[in-house]
Amino acid sequence: MKITYYGHSCFVLETGGKSILFDPYISPNDLAKNIEIESIKADYILISHGHEDHIADAVSIALQTGATIISNWEIIQWVQKQGLKNTHPMNIGGHWFFDFGKVKCVNAVHSSSLPDGSYGGNPMGFLLETVNCNVYYAGDTALTMDMKLIGDYKKIDIAFLPIGNNFTMGIDNAIIAADFIRCDQIIGMHYDTFGFIKIDHEEAIQKFSSADKNLILIPIGDSISI
Ligand code: NI
Ligand code: MN
Repeated sequence: MKITYYGHSCFVLETGGKSILFDPYISPNDLAKNIEIESIKADYILISHGHEDHIADAVSIALQTGATIISNWEIIQWVQKQGLKNTHPMNIGGHWFFDFGKVKCVNAVHSSSLPDGSYGGNPMGFLLETVNCNVYYAGDTALTMDMKLIGDYKKIDIAFLPIGNNFTMGIDNAIIAADFIRCDQIIGMHYDTFGFIKIDHEEAIQKFSSADKNLILIPIGDSISI
C-alpha cells in the first residue's frame, strides 16, 4: 500500500489498483501550495465530516476524476446538490464492500456542519480492510473509549490519528488512542495547518517512541509504502 500526504488530514491510499482520497483540503492550505490538484488521482473520496478543512476540494476533485464520494447521509445529500452523482451514503456502524475492500464507519467525537452552515450529520472515522492491510482513519476526534472496540474488532496495521490538539485530541491522548486500538504504527494528521494546532515534531516523535510506538509525519507531497 502506498500512502501520499497532501497536508492537514488529506491522504491518498493506493491499494489493489485503486486510489482512495481522504478529506481533501488542499487549495486553501498554504502548507500544500506546491500540490497540483489536477495531478491527484482518485477512484473514491472518503469524507469524515462536513467542516471546510475536510471537504474544501471534494467536489472539484470528484468532478475532475469521476471518483465516488463515500460519506454520511447528510454530506452525500449536500454533494449531490453540487451536481455529483457518483456517491455512496453510509452511517456509523455500517459497513460496505467496495472493489478495494471493506469500509466500516466508526464513531468520532467531534462536530460536523457544512461550509454553507447546513447540517453535516455526525462526524465519522473509517476502518478499511484491504488485501494489503487494515487501516483506521480516525477523522477529527477526541480520545474515546469506543476506540477500544476498534482494537477488539480488528487487527489494525496502520492508523491515521489527529495529533494537533485544540480541535481534536493532541499527542498525549493520541498515544492512549494507539493503545486502545492496539496499533504501534501511527501516521499523524491535523497538525501545523493553523496557529492553534502547530506542534513540535521532534517532541511528538519522541513521546510516541517513549511509549514504544512509531509516529510517522510524512512531509507534504511525499509518499511512503507499507
Ligand atoms: Ni472538524
Ligand atoms: Mn478539522
